[in-house]
Amino acid sequence: MSLTSILVLNGPNLSRLGKREPQVYGYRTLEDINRSLSDSFPDISFEFFQSEYEGALLEKLFACEDRGGFTGVILNAGAFTHYSIALRDAISAVSIPVVEVHLSNIYAREEFRHKSVISAVCSGIISGFGFESYQLGVRALLGIAGKGRQ
Ligand code: DQA
Repeated sequence: MSLTSILVLNGPNLSRLGKREPQVYGYRTLEDINRSLSDSFPDISFEFFQSEYEGALLEKLFACEDRGGFTGVILNAGAFTHYSIALRDAISAVSIPVVEVHLSNIYAREEFRHKSVISAVCSGIISGFGFESYQLGVRALLGIAGKGRQ
């Protein structure tokens, strides 16, 4: 495992990026986003995981915690952001820093998206920069780990 390892965790419906409401989420697929992370940060070892299931996201988070060696997690929890107390508790239960990311600006959308139940237990939140939100999330994690540019 390289010195910096980051888990990129995506929740429900993010498998549909590219086809799904492109006026909101853009035309890039999740594979495009993942590839752009690997291309932009060649020294980082990324692990990519997406699931439509809440429990699968929790299990992945715990597996990475137990394996150890992870610098952090970039998490786009999709709609779980707004109501999954289980996900919130799982983030609280691990010691790996988690950065919450969203492609869209959740505060500029429907009212039910304004509330994130996970923000308070994440290191920070990046929302509204399209696929760049993920890139910014990686920079934030490098900063937390003391590996960012001075
Ligand atoms: C999202 C915003 C959520 O409200 C929505 O349910 C998603 C995607 C985003 O990336 O903008 O699935 O997390």
